Amino acid sequence: MSTDVRLVRAEDYPAVASILNHGEDEDHQVAAGDLQRLDVLWARRDSAFRRVVSVADGAIVATGYVCSSWGGVTEPGRFWVNVATSHDRPHHSSDVAVFDDLYRSLDGAAREVWTCTREDHARHLTYLERFGFTERFRSWGAHLALDSFDPSRWTGLVERLATEGVRLVPYPDLDGDAARAAKLTALQDALEADVEHFEPIVPKRIADVIGPETIHEALVVAVAPDGSYVGLACLLGSRSDASLACGLTGVLPEHRRRGIATALKARTAEIARGWGAEELNAGGGGGADAPMVRVNRAIGFGIEAPWVTYAKVV
Ligand SMILES: CC(C)(COP(=O)(O)OP(=O)(O)OC[C@H]1O[C@@H](n2cnc3c(N)ncnc32)[C@H](O)[C@@H]1OP(=O)(O)O)[C@@H](O)C(=O)NCCC(=O)NCCS
Repeated sequence: MSTDVRLVRAEDYPAVASILNHGEDEDHQVAAGDLQRLDVLWARRDSAFRRVVSVADGAIVATGYVCSSWGGVTEPGRFWVNVATSHDRPHHSSDVAVFDDLYRSLDGAAREVWTCTREDHARHLTYLERFGFTERFRSWGAHLALDSFDPSRWTGLVERLATEGVRLVPYPDLDGDAARAAKLTALQDALEADVEHFEPIVPKRIADVIGPETIHEALVVAVAPDGSYVGLACLLGSRSDASLACGLTGVLPEHRRRGIATALKARTAEIARGWGAEELNAGGGGGADAPMVRVNRAIGFGIEAPWVTYAKVV
């Protein structure tokens, strides 16, 4: 059997998209035409960008690309690769051949090579071990279908917190508090000190909770009996979006494990559902056991297979 690695051609994109879409849920499906357009744009912006395919007996059995940045962040000497193999036929280490081609295209410029892939996909990738990649960080993605979300499940929890003096207050209803902005900024700073992060996969700070990316009506604050702010959850995007992103969720350490995060997050889901949104998407750092994953799971979010970041230092 002859295997050949070459630059992708226009007619390869349906096969490339089919490899990338295998086993992916609806949110992560990519159309061949869109992928091709994105590749063209990417190549214009990034001179290191290169997508190749591995062809065996006339069929495309693997694909991969190399680029010089992730999430808009570029580090001198750091490159990112992404390799995927076809699941419906033996791939004969075609991923090794794809990586080898991408790596050689860097022509000695790489100090380190990174990749971020889902654990269930990584199982098919022999090049990770062959070329000495090591695991650096785990992250997670989660999705909540709002038509199956029942806010009444959380009424008892909210009532219990109210008897303990903890109120869940949307940001606009705090406008009588002259210190609102300063208190929220201080709360965000304190919470972010605890967020499991790993640049640039999960940045320490994404957006200010009172900034323009946050939908202010869906920024819910947990207020203690003394008027201090002890936790928050928020949604990003705009009210008319069918799909909304979850922003920072956090509770100060001395108030954790009382159900406050669960109640806050459930309240944001209730607000989004009331607007007719269909889905909430969340993501963050840590493994399947991270406290935020447990809170999301309790609320009814489906949790993706873990994402793993690997690095190879040259
Ligand atoms: C993640 C985080 C928000 C969770 O906040 P929290 O208020 O402690 O969460 P909850 O109390 O709702 O739920 C956490 C656990 O407490 C449990 N719990 C809830 N009420 C409880 C009670 N009365 N007594 C004991 N445990 C309770 C929950 O069942 C849950 O248990 P589990 O972890 O075994 O599933 C908090 O740890 C945090 O702020 N971390 C730093 C910021 C961060 O990392 N945010 C995520 C990135 S956006």
